[in-house]
Amino acid sequence: MPILETRELTRQFGTLVAVNRLTMSVEQGEIFGLLGPNGAGKSTAIKMMTTLLPPTSGDAQIAGYSVTRHAGQVRRLIGYVPQMVSADGTLSGYENLLIFAKLYDVPRREREKRVRDALAFMGLADAADQLVRTYSGGMIRRLEIAQSMLHRPAVLFLDEPTVGLDPAARRLVWEHVQQLRADYGMTIFLTTHLMEEADALCDHVAIMHLGNVAAMGTPAALKASLAKEGATLDDVFIHYSGSALESGGTYRDAARARRTARRLG
Ligand SMILES: Nc1ncnc2c1ncn2[C@@H]1O[C@H](COP(=O)(O)OP(=O)(O)OP(=O)(O)O)[C@@H](O)[C@H]1O
Ligand SMILES: [Mg+2]
Repeated sequence: MPILETRELTRQFGTLVAVNRLTMSVEQGEIFGLLGPNGAGKSTAIKMMTTLLPPTSGDAQIAGYSVTRHAGQVRRLIGYVPQMVSADGTLSGYENLLIFAKLYDVPRREREKRVRDALAFMGLADAADQLVRTYSGGMIRRLEIAQSMLHRPAVLFLDEPTVGLDPAARRLVWEHVQQLRADYGMTIFLTTHLMEEADALCDHVAIMHLGNVAAMGTPAALKASLAKEGATLDDVFIHYSGSALESGGTYRDAARARRTARRLG
């Protein structure tokens, strides 16, 4: 049985259909990538799968639990790192994680060890007692992943885990994501605008465009589906979403990075 399954999952905002009858499944231990241009509906889909936003119609299930009928059970099984920065800059990394260990009901006698282990796992042991506003973007993202894994979720949702990171910091996040799967058998569901990232990490990807899934499969199968020798995942993205890739350093990224700095400052 797949660990994550959606059936005709739909969300409308007024007349806009942000996610249109999304039907897909993810097997346990997979890394699954949801790709698509800005506004495709990726974050909206994740918010429904994580019980944060009720579907207009359809359903999603985690290990057989419905997001609409068994939200409590679903929440215990999942971790979530939102697209926007969520760590508190005025606290240390350790303090940030301790708050979430309480929130996730990690037993009191295990909390300190669980927090220290998560920090070490994400390569942040040395920075544990520094204020998060002194962290680099890559360290903040790794802290947020540490935070989302404290209760050992079966499925981890990462909405653009490497946005705004330099190539080295990005690779470090990739390594940690792969290690989460290897060490804990976690299933990872992520979104990204970086085709290189999707190609390196994902067993399967789906390409969304205006709320609809335009293509779904392994990166290799999707490349092979194009009538082009040596096709890359960039070619696949452009073919199925009908849009050019975002180039690096857009206004949007800059605005995001600045919002991040402000929130942490
Ligand atoms: N709360 C909301 N109210 C109204 N419209 C919304 C709301 N949230 C999202 N939308 C709209 O739904 C569509 C999908 O948005 P969503 O954030 O899911 O896209 P995305 O694929 O995550 O994009 P990005 O790559 O920019 O993060 C967009 O047109 C967006 O404007
Ligand atoms: Mg989004």
